[in-house]
Amino acid sequence: MIELYSSSSDETKSLGKKLAPYLKKGDTIVLSGDLGAGKTMFVSGLLSYFGKENEVSSPTFTIINEHNLTKDLKLFHFDVYRFDFEDEFLAIGGDEFYDKGICLIEWGEKIENYLPKEYIKITITKDNEDENKRIITMTSTSEKYNTLLSEVYN
Ligand SMILES: Nc1ncnc2c1ncn2[C@@H]1O[C@H](COP(=O)(O)OP(=O)(O)OP(=O)(O)O)[C@@H](O)[C@H]1O
Ligand SMILES: [Mg+2]
Repeated sequence: MIELYSSSSDETKSLGKKLAPYLKKGDTIVLSGDLGAGKTMFVSGLLSYFGKENEVSSPTFTIINEHNLTKDLKLFHFDVYRFDFEDEFLAIGGDEFYDKGICLIEWGEKIENYLPKEYIKITITKDNEDENKRIITMTSTSEKYNTLLSEVYN
């Protein structure tokens, strides 16, 4: 497990940007944490590595946003906050995106049964004392991703 601290939205973005060059087609990241924790900020930082920061949206009504990062790499940014049932993810064909690009899923814990076997889980927690402070923990279900995370952040 990696534990990181952020004291501004820019710092959270930098953490996202740092991870970007290591990601490949087929990688999945679940972003968890309270409303306004900084999940979308992290995604925006990640997109900034590819010069696509301006494309980020907080997909309140759009569940999936597709970004063309490079000629052969796509990123699918999901926000499943509004799902009442896990099956809604299958209804929109969500699981068909996993092997088509990098998938970032805000509130991914809501569809836990439909997540791929291996994924990176990033949890952003607010600090009660400082409104700009965040604790960011990163874990994974696989050895491959644990190694990747320690390469990126240690
Ligand atoms: N250290 C920090 N890291 C990230 N965001 C921060 C930080 N400090 C303050 N903020 C502010 O917190 C908000 C985070 O918003 P963001 O949309 O990224 O949250 P979110 O987790 O995606 O929320 P939601 O669940 O509603 O999608 C922004 O307004 C940002 O400026
Ligand atoms: Mg968000």
